[in-house]
Amino acid sequence: MNESVFVKKTLDFFKKSGNPFIKKMYAFDDLGSTNRTAKELALQNAREGTVVIAQTQSEGRGRFDRVWQSPKGGVYLSIILRPTTPVEKTSLLPFVAALAVAQAIMSYGLPARIKWPNDVLVNGKKIAGILLESETSGATLPYVVVGIGVNLNTPLSQLGFDIQKQSTTLRKEHGSSIEYYEFLDTLFQQFDRFYQIFSAGKFEEIVEEWKQHSDTLGKPIRVQTIKETVEGIADSVDQSGFLLLKTKDGKIVRVMSGDCTDFHEL
Ligand code: BTN
Repeated sequence: MNESVFVKKTLDFFKKSGNPFIKKMYAFDDLGSTNRTAKELALQNAREGTVVIAQTQSEGRGRFDRVWQSPKGGVYLSIILRPTTPVEKTSLLPFVAALAVAQAIMSYGLPARIKWPNDVLVNGKKIAGILLESETSGATLPYVVVGIGVNLNTPLSQLGFDIQKQSTTLRKEHGSSIEYYEFLDTLFQQFDRFYQIFSAGKFEEIVEEWKQHSDTLGKPIRVQTIKETVEGIADSVDQSGFLLLKTKDGKIVRVMSGDCTDFHEL
């Protein structure tokens, strides 16, 4: 079968990029979900640094099983990791991914901030989302798939009305179109950089860097967890990346995972 322009350009980019972290790239014009395909590849022993990328997705997924609309113009990719760090530290991987995406966006002069744990915002609007998926096998994590969706040149009009209101794109914030492969190159470089810090066991450095880019700390927020809704001031994050929330009665509640909303958005 003939390769499409997107597939050919993407594979050419991969060959020329020379990023030591990216070991193999699978590119598609349209895929259900890059995370789903990456998980299938991980189960077939694909190595760390394997990337699945698509120009569009027909069944893109977000956190909490939400739909991630994926029209042409956005970046949709998943990276397979096989971390060898202690399993309890893998809860910091959402920070690693968010820092890489935020830094790539900041390289365009944009003020990217991170909403706990890993939504990337510019001027209060969501510009990128990250979905990590893994499987446990005893005390180890055989793989982690890091799915990244970035509103690069995405036409906002092609997103649902509610999503449009809360989202922005690099093109809109920057004032002109962003070159897709230039952005990818920067993103992979930043990913490599933060994953190396993580893999070297410098967990405190990841947490400190995350705190510096946080859009959440110090704000009154509401977090929806699987079990309950908790409200309070986002006091800090601990060395596992869990949110420490100070409630009205002064108690500190430790939240491992959840959907976080600022009070000003409610
Ligand atoms: C979120 O903010 O809810 C996370 C969105 C993650 C979207 C990306 S796009 C590439 C990868 N494939 C998917 O199906 N989802 C992730």
